[in-house]
Amino acid sequence: MFSKTVTPSNLCSLLSSKGYAIVDGLFGTSRAMRLRSDIQHLRENNIMFPNATHLHTNQTTSNKPILVEKKNVMEMDVISEVLDVVPNIKALQHDTFLLNALNQFEGIQLKEQRLKVQNNTGGCFPMHVDSDVSIDTRIVSGILYLNPDWKPEHGGELKLYPHPEKPVTIEPIMDRLVLFSSPHMVHRVLPCFSDRYCLTLWFYGNYASYPTLKKPQNEEDILEFLKQRRVRKHLVKLTYADEWAQSIMESHDPSPAREILLQNHWDDVTKLKQYFAPYEKYLPQVSGPVPWI
Ligand SMILES: [Fe+2]
Repeated sequence: MFSKTVTPSNLCSLLSSKGYAIVDGLFGTSRAMRLRSDIQHLRENNIMFPNATHLHTNQTTSNKPILVEKKNVMEMDVISEVLDVVPNIKALQHDTFLLNALNQFEGIQLKEQRLKVQNNTGGCFPMHVDSDVSIDTRIVSGILYLNPDWKPEHGGELKLYPHPEKPVTIEPIMDRLVLFSSPHMVHRVLPCFSDRYCLTLWFYGNYASYPTLKKPQNEEDILEFLKQRRVRKHLVKLTYADEWAQSIMESHDPSPAREILLQNHWDDVTKLKQYFAPYEKYLPQVSGPVPWI
């Protein structure tokens, strides 16, 4: 499955140093086309569900989030009940070559992979990270794109924000796998103008807990503090606050729930501004290698 330029060890090295890795031509066109056909089968038989953003608000009496549906995005967790009608997805579900490759990371043991399939016919996703280490054991996210005729005017690119590096836009072309850090890499899907298919792989495992967060006292400590991987998603929210809000608006039709999503976002930005105010002058200096995984 891997090429001379992308081996399991340099895949891990890229993921760790850049926060993401791209593997083109993962399976070859015919296997990729069969995976696409399986998803089309699920779509045509109305087995998939609309994707929704989870909105946590104190305006509900229970702790359950409100589900704010996205436009034109259908998806489904690959559960055992459907595997027999999608044999190529079933084979991938039981194929652990990627999990084994990622287990070359020192100190991390990935134990399980789960799959989700998606068909996007004109939607997009707001900026987000996939997991939170305090409640979720997803460590690596993988997206396999299955779009043989993709053209720039079709949109639907994946945009990553590997702060402090510049954002990266990745075309969703056929048989391209993109892997990235689930809890630390902010990403979004840009507006899509075509019939776009992809398959998500989530890799679950044990994450070493973060060291205790201590407020830094001197300049050296401040720069180390600002470089931590757990801080990156917050700095992305501060740096790209307007783009983040725009991505929420593009992903959802106007509604009271969308207004709450936007209000929550701006409340977060206000809190983050206050929190990071003492370090503002150091933010442009944040650089250097910090492991993403
Ligand atoms: Fe995501």
